[in-house]
Amino acid sequence: MGFLLTPTIQSFSIASSGILFLILLACTFFTSTEAYDALDPHGNITIKWDIMSWTPDGYVAVVTMHNFQQYRHIAAPGWSMGWTWAKKEVIWSMTGGQTTEQGDCSKFKGNIPHCCKKDPTVVDLMPGTPYNQQVANCCKGGVLSSWVQDPVNSVASFQVSVGRGGTTNKTVKVPKNFTLKAPGPGYTCGRAKIVRPSLFIQADKRRTTQALMTWNVTCTYSQFLAQKTPTCCVSLSSFYNDTIVPCPTCACGCQTKSSQRGSCVEADSPHIQSVVPTKNNFAPLVQCTRHMCPIRIHWHVKLNYKEYWRVKVTITNFNYRMNYSDWNMVVQHPNFDNLTQSFSFNYKPLTPYGDINDTGMLWGVKFYNDLLMQAGHVGNVQSELLFRKDTSTFTFDKGWAFPRRIYFNGDNCVMPPPDAYPWLPNTGSRKTVPLLALIMAFLVTLVFYAYA
Ligand SMILES: *[C@@H]1O[C@H](CO)[C@@H](O)[C@H](O)[C@H]1NC(C)=O
Ligand SMILES: *[C@@H]1O[C@H](CO)[C@@H](O)[C@H](O)[C@H]1NC(C)=O
Ligand SMILES: *[C@@H]1O[C@H](CO)[C@@H](O)[C@H](O)[C@H]1NC(C)=O
Ligand SMILES: *[C@@H]1O[C@H](CO)[C@@H](O)[C@H](O)[C@H]1NC(C)=O
Ligand SMILES: *[C@@H]1O[C@H](CO)[C@@H](O)[C@H](O)[C@H]1NC(C)=O
Ligand SMILES: *[C@@H]1O[C@H](CO)[C@@H](O)[C@H](O)[C@H]1NC(C)=O
Ligand SMILES: *[C@@H]1O[C@H](CO)[C@@H](O)[C@H](O)[C@H]1NC(C)=O
Ligand SMILES: *[C@@H]1O[C@H](CO)[C@@H](O)[C@H](O)[C@H]1NC(C)=O
Repeated sequence: MGFLLTPTIQSFSIASSGILFLILLACTFFTSTEAYDALDPHGNITIKWDIMSWTPDGYVAVVTMHNFQQYRHIAAPGWSMGWTWAKKEVIWSMTGGQTTEQGDCSKFKGNIPHCCKKDPTVVDLMPGTPYNQQVANCCKGGVLSSWVQDPVNSVASFQVSVGRGGTTNKTVKVPKNFTLKAPGPGYTCGRAKIVRPSLFIQADKRRTTQALMTWNVTCTYSQFLAQKTPTCCVSLSSFYNDTIVPCPTCACGCQTKSSQRGSCVEADSPHIQSVVPTKNNFAPLVQCTRHMCPIRIHWHVKLNYKEYWRVKVTITNFNYRMNYSDWNMVVQHPNFDNLTQSFSFNYKPLTPYGDINDTGMLWGVKFYNDLLMQAGHVGNVQSELLFRKDTSTFTFDKGWAFPRRIYFNGDNCVMPPPDAYPWLPNTGSRKTVPLLALIMAFLVTLVFYAYA
């Protein structure tokens, strides 16, 4: 692609290519804030309110949250959901969830509401909540699995009894300004839309009931909103070349000067023992490395058989503040259409574009390696992948055996630049591609993905 572009670039004057560069830059900025994920284009979390009954001064609603994202989950300490009431509503009571603050209920005598705030924030209850405070799909401490990894646990719900709201479907006003935290930023929620009332099929399938009124809210994730720096990087090696291509330097930030303590911790520091995770600090505290990433994924091309080839994948945790429970990884590589076996990781193919089968999701085996321990403990998990060769496409040349894209827990990992990939010996000297052409090719690719 770089070669094709070179003549075009040369024909541009410096000024016009500068303008083009700015336009392309604006496009990439636009796409990164637009919450679009090429490997999960329709991923979203849908919040649904079903009014189940009217009360003398309001209604009882079941609020259900469906995680329709293929691989992004919400880990402990879990989600919190907020909204702003449209009128002067209060929450009389809740089951399967609770508001974080009661707010000012001083106007009430006798019966005191659960929450009087105009903008309540609801969190899940913990596992082991007494049965009389539970509803179906509640009480998982706010943990919400991804759709592919564990569909049964990708749903959360709570029940809320609302007072001083409307008492008919004409007078109810839908709440505004929904927010979803996981627990940090990242999700943006749209407006609540009144939709066809949900249908509920009874367990024996002989009767269907329906909600009195239903509204939906859709929330989408943007890695750009969640954190300003990447959270993972990829390193590469192969049996046919001694070079280990490390994660790019400063992939997730740079080591600040030694005068500023606390940006990272030396691996051999006696200080590590005193790194106690604090309740409200989820910012990673990483081991000092050149890449400074909390997570590194290493892809080693291990063996070449006649009809198969084998890769070893190692995920290493450099974060002292986090055990990643139910972690997952998404890998894009053309040979995923013929993955023969994945050892000690679960595997499911993802097909974001229907018939193109080049993406797979991998995650830990329950009670064996589904917990990626914090740095300083074991701190890594490993697997091997066995691919069947398709003779028409298979090659070790030009870095073909390395992944095109890797996500960890739904975030895109920083890859080494393609020209640094380990080479196959005896492929001769490679032509050098002009730097500008490479940058242009990169931007054009991004724009292509944005509109594809
Ligand atoms: C949310 O995801 C579901 C399931 O993939 C999909 O049917 C729905 O259209 C999505 N909603 C939006 C607004 O994209
Ligand atoms: C409200 O209820 C009436 C029947 O009582 C129904 O015809 C109407 O479609 C409902 N409106 C909404 C927005 O659900
Ligand atoms: C919506 O919520 C955000 C953040 O919680 C707040 O800054 C904003 O003022 C709210 N808007 C309305 C109309 O309540
Ligand atoms: C509302 O959300 C539910 C899932 O929670 C979904 O089944 C339904 O199709 C959605 N309705 C609309 C109109 O988006
Ligand atoms: C991670 O798990 C280990 C063992 O269960 C525990 O000792 C450690 O405190 C946990 N770390 C964090 C940050 O939760
Ligand atoms: C994708 O490849 C996997 C094997 O890696 C196979 O099990 C699955 O059926 C394929 N899916 C499609 C849509 O071709
Ligand atoms: C997997 O490889 C075999 C043998 O090369 C081939 O016949 C088969 O079509 C391949 N499957 C896919 C889904 O490409
Ligand atoms: C291994 O790959 C590197 C590029 O990462 C290259 O500089 C080196 O020459 C290769 N070694 C051999 C023996 O081909």
